Amino acid sequence: MTIDDSLFMRAARRQPVSRTPVWFMRQAGRVLPEYRAVRDSLTLIEITQRPEVCAEVTLQPVRRFGVDAAILFADIMHPLIGAGVALDIVDGVGPVIHQPVRAAADVERLRPLEPAADLPYVLESIRIIKRALANSIPLIGFAGAPYTLAAYLIEGKGTRDFARTKAFMYAEPALWHQLMERLTGMVIAYMRAQAAAGVDALQLFDSWVGSLSPRDYAAYVQPYARRIFDALASLGIPLIHFGVNTATLLAEMATDGASVIGIDWRIGLDDAWRVVGHDKAVQGNLDPCVLLAPEDVIDREVRDVLARAGGRPGHIFNLGHGLLPQTPVDAVSRVIETIHEYALVTIGE
Ligand code: CP3
Repeated sequence: MTIDDSLFMRAARRQPVSRTPVWFMRQAGRVLPEYRAVRDSLTLIEITQRPEVCAEVTLQPVRRFGVDAAILFADIMHPLIGAGVALDIVDGVGPVIHQPVRAAADVERLRPLEPAADLPYVLESIRIIKRALANSIPLIGFAGAPYTLAAYLIEGKGTRDFARTKAFMYAEPALWHQLMERLTGMVIAYMRAQAAAGVDALQLFDSWVGSLSPRDYAAYVQPYARRIFDALASLGIPLIHFGVNTATLLAEMATDGASVIGIDWRIGLDDAWRVVGHDKAVQGNLDPCVLLAPEDVIDREVRDVLARAGGRPGHIFNLGHGLLPQTPVDAVSRVIETIHEYALVTIGE
């Protein structure tokens, strides 16, 4: 057995599998009591700065649930932290930037990332996790995409309407493109360093890109997504492109160079896959709120996602967004059991 033979890697490459692989966005942390026990004495950032602890937290969901992939425990803010941007990750709020980006001088202050010097602990965590996983299941590395990072930098924290972000984008297009250039360089350096340290696949989280129209996506974001996937293509590992609320953007995102497209729950997996094209793999797309429902509802909704995948090679089961903090541990197990029991009808190669 090598990692290339694993269910996740085979599905990501659209090769036939004996059953659908499954992992969960935000599986590390949040819902696990064993994670909360670690978090009682350390902040999220402190966990990531202690590679042995970071590895332990990454492996917790693997041990507890038997998921088919591990995801590195880190945050999308790490490249910014590494480049010296002052920020906190506040409980129940998310990232808060001390000095939001509002003018040219703020953009110019963003220096390039040197992963080995700036984030050695992340790379060391990857090496420890890879050793611990041996050849059992793959490790997914990730980065936040330039638009989502820009939104946090400009707003200073999470937002519902992205008003400051878009006002900046429309009013100062040249400065916007400078900011996106710098973030793109950081993301490429960070993802390449993760691959060199041993991750088996990379996911680009453009969580908030669904706030844009297709036309604005094409003008203000897509060139950078394309540059990132272009720069990673030679790695030869699965590249996943994910955003929330992207039903209207999927046709564009599918042309950006990722081999796997993440799908949220606002569109049926069958409809999404048709738009993305069957020459790409898809990942998704159970509504995370289904895990707050009774078991019979969970079973029904999991089977619905699997039925929509139609047994076609190239489906990785996941949620449409991350696990919610209030999700019962048993609901996560139930999703996995239902997938394991599902009789897979493979349609061709
Ligand atoms: O998926 C995983 O299990 C790996 C770990 C991971 C974290 N953040 C750890 C974390 C990943 C992949 C992320 C990505 C991330 N971080 C995204 C993209 C994914 C998405 O959900 O859209 C975004 C937008 C962030 C920014 C961020 N960090 C938010 C919005 C929050 C939530 C704030 C809250 O408390 O509800 C965080 C904090 C965070 N990052 C937590 C975890 C486990 C939860 C709080 C904690 O344990 O301290």
